[in-house]
Amino acid sequence: MKPSVLSWRHALALCLFVTPLLGLAANLPFRPVATSASGMIGDQIAIFVPEGLDPAHLPHSFALLKSPTIAEPLTSTWADQPSFTCSGPEFRATFTVNKDVDLYGGGEVTGPLRRNGTLVRLWNTDNYTYAKDSGSRLYQSHPWIMGVRRDGSSFGLLFDSTWKAEMTCAETITYTTQGPAFPVIVIERPTPQGVLQALADLTGHMPLPPRWALGYQQCRYSYEPDSRVREIAETFRQKRIPCDVIWMDIDYMDGYRIFTFDGKKFPSPKALNDDLHRLGFKAVWMIDPGVKRDPGYKVFDSGTQADVWVKNSEGQTFVGSVWPGPCVFPDFTRPETRSWWSGLYRDFMAQGIDGVWNDMNEPAVFDTPDWTMPEDNWHRGGGELVPGPHRRYHNVYGMLMVAATREGILKANPDKRPFVLTRANFLGGQRYAATWTGDNASREEHIPLSIPMSLTLGLSGQPFNGPDIGGFADFAAPDVWSRWIGLGAFYPFSRGHGVKGSNDKEPWAFGEKVEKTARVALERRYRLIPYLYTVFRQTSVTGLPVMRPVFLADPKDVSLRGEDSAFTLGPDLLVVPRWAPSPRLPRGDWPEITLVEGDLQDPDQPSLRIRPGSIVALGRVVQNTTEESLDPLTLLVCPDGNGRASGDLYEDDGDGFSYQKGNYLLTTYQAETKNGQVVVTVKSTEGQRPRPVRKTVIVVVGPRATSSTESTGL
Ligand code: NOJ
Repeated sequence: MKPSVLSWRHALALCLFVTPLLGLAANLPFRPVATSASGMIGDQIAIFVPEGLDPAHLPHSFALLKSPTIAEPLTSTWADQPSFTCSGPEFRATFTVNKDVDLYGGGEVTGPLRRNGTLVRLWNTDNYTYAKDSGSRLYQSHPWIMGVRRDGSSFGLLFDSTWKAEMTCAETITYTTQGPAFPVIVIERPTPQGVLQALADLTGHMPLPPRWALGYQQCRYSYEPDSRVREIAETFRQKRIPCDVIWMDIDYMDGYRIFTFDGKKFPSPKALNDDLHRLGFKAVWMIDPGVKRDPGYKVFDSGTQADVWVKNSEGQTFVGSVWPGPCVFPDFTRPETRSWWSGLYRDFMAQGIDGVWNDMNEPAVFDTPDWTMPEDNWHRGGGELVPGPHRRYHNVYGMLMVAATREGILKANPDKRPFVLTRANFLGGQRYAATWTGDNASREEHIPLSIPMSLTLGLSGQPFNGPDIGGFADFAAPDVWSRWIGLGAFYPFSRGHGVKGSNDKEPWAFGEKVEKTARVALERRYRLIPYLYTVFRQTSVTGLPVMRPVFLADPKDVSLRGEDSAFTLGPDLLVVPRWAPSPRLPRGDWPEITLVEGDLQDPDQPSLRIRPGSIVALGRVVQNTTEESLDPLTLLVCPDGNGRASGDLYEDDGDGFSYQKGNYLLTTYQAETKNGQVVVTVKSTEGQRPRPVRKTVIVVVGPRATSSTESTGL
């Protein structure tokens, strides 16, 4: 037997020993469990291991990149320590903080950015319009909390368990699983930035996505048949509304059988993708985990032959209903299943597909009481993973699926950066996929709600995220859609979507006024792509979020801690929705900037401001990100009180991996003011990519004036 099996079973046995009335009373008292080991696993990163777990053989961690090893004893001054208790089948870690500590994180959550006084249920749930359990459990689980003290110093708590759990965020933070003992990792840093960087080092950095994934994307449940897809794509180009990606939802499939195409509605997916490519679009197609139970269907047959399906508690293949009716589900805990699944993508991607959308992977199952598979279903594991009940593996079902998907599409297209979007995931899942926040609704209140949701995902390790712009469920009113697209230009992942049966939700579907708002909004995003791509590159290196709460701009300013309408994109741009109720903004005079004609006059376009002391690189308005946009390059220069500024521009091929071998150019520009003149020079460069010959327009913005000059050699 593997050591990790022994350790969690021992932990459970210990609990059973001290609480003999297992399961008979819901409110059994929690009894103390000793911390059997603790120590440093990194610089100012400690681990606490409860009795019952062997610190040398901890259960496999899904969140962490590698199994933690205690390198040194706990530093003598280490203050913050969790304590452990258990009660019947539940195991709890408790951590007490001062009441003036601000708490953040917890992954995909509804509610405010500042998490003090909230409860998160960690049980990945298909939660249409966030209605179930008042939105306290959503599609993903992130057992992670970050605390920021008054002085800006910060800590992070990682509860290393995948079992069904609840997390309360208050003066007493509790993490209670319906499972065995688990270790707790505590990070200490002088700043929240330091904590977020340490989190990324521990759980993995988002890989640099292809640049096209930063463009605007248009989705619908579903564009069908293929002529409708072409019509949508052509309309974007005719109306000159920038867009990079069109999405294919489930109705392209033959009877909802994954990895098939409906012969009538989508007779030639390759020809469709070729047409989209000719128009400058990429194509993302959906794949769900449920496989129709249908002898004769190749995916069902090959999976059955390879014995990949999840079992029920009696050891029979579990069958549950999803879109195609009765389905079986790959048991992604098995290495054999993951390689079978990866292999399915070869022929699929050969149709000219650019990216994959994995949906319904909580997994959602329609004909069970809790809309997922029974908790006592059985996963057989293998390799590092022990066999276990669904209650143990439910929260990582989506993560294991997207790990295998990413591997499959990378194998199919080894020279392209994979793009996977997933609905379900787990802490650390940024290693494999971007995410969106599931089935929101076209309701006014879901617009402000989306901001702390995206920010909190970013503070929980997942920077590449965004909601369905315009709202998924319900009929969208023109004013709601218009306000949303104005904001939507600034999410890291920017995609419009709409449910079957609702009104059309494309930029032109609401009349001329809204169409103009959409064009202006997306032109703003496209001008910002060079800056955004630079921020994404920095994020992939540092782990700092793309979309950031304003308190990160000044962690000592406690007045910013609760602000969740205004936010920054990277360090240098501040986005303030004009509808934000009295936003708290970072100190200093961040001047408002204009990017395209009409953006200052339209109340649905958030006010955009630049940080004093920064230089932000802009491109031209283009219709998709593969068009050359940096001739001319525009450098927006905002000198600080000393007349100085600096900023970066990252350039590479936009796709592929040659950047890893030095084919990139990272330029740090600096500006100085001499005799009233702002002079911009290249301060330093990194990478071997030659500097393109181009014209550069330098726009100096200040609280009082804007001036513009031209230059070459930048
Ligand atoms: C549920 C997803 O959340 C939604 O985005 C999608 O359109 C439908 N499934 C249909 O595939």
